[in-house]
Order: sequence, then C-alpha cells, then structure tokens
Amino acid sequence: MAQKIIYRELFNGIEVPIELADGRQVIPINFDNGATTPPLKEVDKFIAENILMYGSVGRGGHKSEYCTKAYELSKEEILSFFGVSQLDKYEVIYVKNTTEGINLLAGTLCDRNNYKILTSRMEHHANDLPWRNVGDVFYIDVNKQGKINLEQLEYMLERAIGTIKYVSITAASNVTGYITDIHQIAKIAHKYGAKLIVDGAQVVAHRVVCLKGQTEEEDIDGLVFSGHKMYAPFGSGVVIIKKELLQGKKPFLQGGGSVKAVFDYDVYYKDSWEAEEAGSPNFLGCMAIVAAMTVLKSIGLDKVADHEDALRRRLIKGLRDIKQIKLYGDPKEENRVGVVTFNAEGIYNKEVGRLLQEIRGIAVRTGCFCAQPYVMRLMGISEEERYYYLKHSELQHPGMIRASFGLYNTEEEVDEFLDTLEFIISHYN
Ligand SMILES: Cc1ncc(COP(=O)(O)O)c(C=O)c1O
Repeated sequence: MAQKIIYRELFNGIEVPIELADGRQVIPINFDNGATTPPLKEVDKFIAENILMYGSVGRGGHKSEYCTKAYELSKEEILSFFGVSQLDKYEVIYVKNTTEGINLLAGTLCDRNNYKILTSRMEHHANDLPWRNVGDVFYIDVNKQGKINLEQLEYMLERAIGTIKYVSITAASNVTGYITDIHQIAKIAHKYGAKLIVDGAQVVAHRVVCLKGQTEEEDIDGLVFSGHKMYAPFGSGVVIIKKELLQGKKPFLQGGGSVKAVFDYDVYYKDSWEAEEAGSPNFLGCMAIVAAMTVLKSIGLDKVADHEDALRRRLIKGLRDIKQIKLYGDPKEENRVGVVTFNAEGIYNKEVGRLLQEIRGIAVRTGCFCAQPYVMRLMGISEEERYYYLKHSELQHPGMIRASFGLYNTEEEVDEFLDTLEFIISHYN
C-alpha cells in the first residue's frame, strides 16, 4: 500500500482534477499509458535545471559546452540503461519518436536496395509501414490468441536461404501486451545471416531490456523507443544500432551537422552517428529521457514489472467475472506488459470509451491502436469484410477497448474502472 502511494508521488499532473460533463470534479484515471505517459517529477526538475543552461549542442561558448558535454554523456547513460557501454560498438541516435526511428533505420539500412525484411502480424503500423516502403516484406503470422511462433520465424528464414537481411519485431505488443523473446529471435535471425531490429516502444518503461544476450548470437542489433512512453514526454526518441550496420550508408536526413565536406556538386558524410543526426538536436527532450531512466533504474524495473503485473492480473480477473466482456489474447499469459484489450457485448467500443470518460473521467484507447492487421486477426475479421467497412464509412468500424497501465496506476483505480464498466453495461439500452 505504502509503495503505491510513493509511485504516485513520483509523477506530475496525475492528481489534477478534471470536470465531468455533469460538473463533478474528479481525479481522472488514466489507463491509456500505451499511448503516452505523464512526466516524472524528476524529469520536470531536470528540464527546469537544464533549461537555465540551454545552449546549442556542438558549438563554442560556456552554455554550449555544458550542453554538448551533457548530450554526449546522455548517450553513455542510455547505453548503460540497456546494459552496454561505449566499448560495445553501439551508436545512439536521437530521433523524435519510435515512428521516426524505424523510418530512419528502414531508410538508411535498406538504402534503396529493396532487401527482404521479415516482421510479424502483431506489429504496430510504425514497425510495418516503414519497411513496406523500402523493401520486400514478409510476415510471421499469429495464431488465434495472437501469438507468434518462433518455429515459423525459423522456417521462413531457412526457406529464404540467407536472403532476408533484417528481422524487425516488437518487444511487447501494444494490443495484447505479449512480450517476445528478443534474444532467442536474435539467435535465430543471426543463424540465417539476418540482423534483428527491435521495436521497444511498449517495453522500455516496463521491463529490463538488455542489448546483449548470453552469447554474441543473442545480441540485439538495433532498438528503437520513444521518450513519451517512458514518462519523458518532451519530444525525443532513441535509436540504438550496431555501428557496423551504418557504415557506408547514406543518412536518412541530410543537412547541417551530418557532413565532413560539401563541394559544389559533391558531399562527404561523417562516418559516425553524427551523419544520422542532421539538424539541431532536441537537447531538453534527450535530457528528459536520461532523467526518466535514472528514476526507473533507481526503482528497479523488476519492481515496476511486479506492480504492473498485479494490476493486470486484477483487471483480467475482474473482466473475466463480467459475462458480457470478451477478452482478446490469452488471459492466462503471464509474459506480458500491462496491456489488456476487450469488448463489451452489444456496445460499440468507442461508446464504451466515451462513457468511461463521461461517467468517471477514465481514459482508455478504443479502435485498432494503429495495429489494424493484428486487431483484425484477433477479432476474426477478414480482409474482405475490412474492404466493405472501408467503403462504408457510415458503419461502425470494428475495434476494441484497451486499458494500459503505468507505474502510478493503483488497484483502487482498477476496481473503480471495473465498477464503472459494470455500471455502463447494466445501464446501456
Ligand atoms: C509497439 C509500438 N511501436 C511503435 C509505436 C509508435 O510510437 P510513437 O508514436 O512514439 O512513434 C507505438 C505507439 O503506440 C507502439 O505501441
């Protein structure tokens, strides 16, 4: 009990009351942490301190030197959060968010070569569409419970006889919360000459992630994530990538900071991460990520996981007790982050979302969560039916309701959520 209170106290903004439609003031319940997260107080504090020293990165002058040093150190901090050091030959590249990071990797690594890429049907669009844009994409399918099968991964890599260049997989699904065994996937990918890129958007604030596996074959080649999903909502994200993979590649973005020399009709790019960070960096956004990591590390991600697992179990148990609720995915699966998706029989998903907000100020996400191929598979909706919906915008489009937890959520909030949901179900119609 005491621990929960401490977690809440670490955050800014979560106790600010909102006004409901009927004029009541309530402390809202945010179960939409899969979309974005509120700031940690330490993050705000760090930003407030650093803004006083704000200057441009990589230039001269006192403040500029401070920022340049802090910026360089932040990259070491980020590597250390994932269990590696600068000696381990990884580059840290700051981006805007996971979407930009995966676009950067897809654009840079594939470099108009139309390589073969293997991903899965459980991906967020951010880890699907950028690859479609640059290469020939193959997909590991999911079963009825939405799980991927590593034997199929191996089969597809084997059948491609070494022609698949990159495997790109999410570390945790934003629809079912399933956690994938990224080190085992790395081992299989490497056996067939492919490199593994991991979409870490839903995992980095909830589980320990190590870039290194038990053996070198299990090492992750690239990891991408967003600061705003780890309590640092100041507009920065991160790509970590093995240095060797960037060598000889043309940068994704071109402009200042990325070049060695520019001639009238010729350009020479830098050989390091600097080539991938054209333009002025978002210094404060980068500082925010490091500040969030410092807090998460001091709490211990195992403790974070224990807390969020308890919330997830309580929610799933409560939902299973409501007969009108249909849960998606495997309710018994324990290897998952705090993401739970469901529908309430006879009530449109968006209507449930609206009523939760209106009656008790509860925020959830509804619809397809930018993972349409996955959500449709879980709901058993065919491509044919989907084309029908596409043509008929007047119809209610299929989707789900998603509750996703952050560290500051509590068991009391889960109980209030369940009570409100039962109220909605019993009063609807
Ligand atoms: C698994 C996953 N990947 C990628 C993204 C995209 O993240 P961003 O919107 O920060 O670019 C999300 C966002 O919800 C996600 O859940």
